[in-house]
Amino acid sequence: MAAIGTDIEKAVSLLKNGELIAIPTETVYGLAANAYADDAVVKIFAAKDRPAFDPLIVHTHSVAAFSTIATNIPDKAYQLAEAFMPGPLTLILPKSPEIPLLVTSGNDSVGVRIPNHSLTLALLRALDFPLAAPSANPFGYVSPTTAQHVNQQLGQKIPYILDGGTCSVGIESTIIHVVNNEVEILRLGGLALEEIEAVIGEKIIKIKTSSSNPTAPGMLSSHYAPRKKVILGQIDALLADYKDAKVGILSFEKHYKEVPGNQQVQLSLSGNLQEAARNLFSALRHLDLQPIDLILTELVPDEGLGRAVNDRLRRAAH
Ligand code: TXA
Ligand code: MG
Repeated sequence: MAAIGTDIEKAVSLLKNGELIAIPTETVYGLAANAYADDAVVKIFAAKDRPAFDPLIVHTHSVAAFSTIATNIPDKAYQLAEAFMPGPLTLILPKSPEIPLLVTSGNDSVGVRIPNHSLTLALLRALDFPLAAPSANPFGYVSPTTAQHVNQQLGQKIPYILDGGTCSVGIESTIIHVVNNEVEILRLGGLALEEIEAVIGEKIIKIKTSSSNPTAPGMLSSHYAPRKKVILGQIDALLADYKDAKVGILSFEKHYKEVPGNQQVQLSLSGNLQEAARNLFSALRHLDLQPIDLILTELVPDEGLGRAVNDRLRRAAH
């Protein structure tokens, strides 16, 4: 198992030696390596069993440091960066020559993000290189929102996990590409569309999150999935359909008295979508460990962070 702690100096020295470490962010934990070092980045793909066609996001500490990662940054991208970074936003930008093609899977664009977590920001400031980091889970599985989640799945493969507690947002960053001065959403995530629209002063019409979209090769229709089969629908009707199976329930706010307490999770008893996003991945992990055959679930209201929760539920059920 990996060592777990809050020792930034240890994290710095491992990263400088080309090792991988897990880092906390406000969205999910990341599996980080020196973004400039091919031989370190290649270890990320190996540890996650991640296909080489799925590009990595590069993490840094400030908008001022973007010039070491990207070039020709559109004004609208700067406007979004100023408004929302550090925060749960990733911008797809033209890559600078220093970023290896291994990081971007051969693309001439790069995903850039400033995570809003004090420990990881301190780490990034202590380094003289940015960090390439995907979510710290085996490819296709649910993203980790605690150091323990990372340790359970990747603990054998990495020396150190920087422990920043439970992720406060709990769902991955929203990914935006500015194309011809227009904002396109490549992944729904922890920054709500409504907040983005309020800053840019217009409605976002391009939401290109399908798996057929070549600009976001990692957005496969089956992703974020537990090992157990997930069935999405009306929970009452599903309970009747599957009355002979051992079922667990992942509901938005309602408790079901016919199902044992440890085999059901309410995402938010008060119907709060931010709380639902924060609880989603740990709920899926919990249910995955229960003695059940199926996880029955339902969509949440399709607004605010509910859109990202529904996106993940659909992929988990695919
Ligand atoms: O919140 C997050 O974004 C977390 C934390 C650790 O920062 N990271 C994360 O990384 O979710 P990952 O690798 O699990 O998901 C990144 C997604 C992938 O679907 C990938 O295809 C897309 O970002 N992506 C990365 N670079 C891209 C690029 N240049 N063009 C299009 N999509 C890109
Ligand atoms: Mg991921």
